[in-house]
Amino acid sequence: MTVTEGPRPRVRARQPKLDFSQSPKYWVLGDPQSTHTLNILHYGIPAGERFFVDGVRAAMPYITDAQLLADARGFVGQESTHARMHEKAAERLDLFSIPQIRAGVEAADRRREQLNRRVKALPEPLRRQAVLLWLSQVVLAEHVTAVLADIALDDDKTHADAVDPQMAALLRWHAVEELEHRSVPFDVYRHLGGTYAMRVAFALPAFLLMPFVLFGVTSQLMQADPDFGHPFSLRQHLEAARARRVPSILDVAVRLPGYLLPNHHPSKVGDDRRAAAYLASNPPSLADDRAPAKRRRAAASN
Ligand SMILES: [Fe+2]
Ligand SMILES: [Fe+2]
Repeated sequence: MTVTEGPRPRVRARQPKLDFSQSPKYWVLGDPQSTHTLNILHYGIPAGERFFVDGVRAAMPYITDAQLLADARGFVGQESTHARMHEKAAERLDLFSIPQIRAGVEAADRRREQLNRRVKALPEPLRRQAVLLWLSQVVLAEHVTAVLADIALDDDKTHADAVDPQMAALLRWHAVEELEHRSVPFDVYRHLGGTYAMRVAFALPAFLLMPFVLFGVTSQLMQADPDFGHPFSLRQHLEAARARRVPSILDVAVRLPGYLLPNHHPSKVGDDRRAAAYLASNPPSLADDRAPAKRRRAAASN
């Protein structure tokens, strides 16, 4: 079975060197609301990524294509590293000491562990169907992260200068790898026989609810911040998006429904050239990561 459409970049985890010790509390410089909006990447994404990783891990025993299995392993490595690095940023910003955040993350991790136990206990063929249902959620989430990653790498939409340099390096490295692995869960899902109906079943309600959940959670945190204390303002969000400090919710919203098309494939989402250009710019945070590859190439040529 063909498992992918078009060439896919190699999927492997990098280990960026990032130091958030000098990053300010409001790391989207001078903009508390935008910082609170993007902080969800640090405290929410890691729990989500652990859910994606476990879903793809649960599918691995069913993968019979060697390249796809290697890509699935690369996906697990990349997402696990993203989770660790965003948690490092969250710790610097002391986000886990906020009771709502700590409780939300702990509840998400408990539900994921419970799901793992339940899926493992199922007999076949129910287990395979449960894994497919889990993967369908991962595929949906990866569509959203691919859209966000593409916007994060687009200087016309978001500008790195608006963000603390170490946070910008974190976001751009993460965006590059999101684009690299965006097709992997989709291809695994299809390889296992996942249907269109299951893939889109939760998509429309998820797309409609997303801005309300995102802005609702952000507003709660903004009001709980003793140094800020204001509710979320849509007008300020649109101003920040115009200034390229945050991705515009409108830019994201118009690109989500493509997922509903029967011929959708993640390879059609995003521009790989921007990711390649970022890597080619030799960002210092990835300098050490390139060294082993150079040494491997040198050893191979001897
Ligand atoms: Fe990620
Ligand atoms: Fe991802």
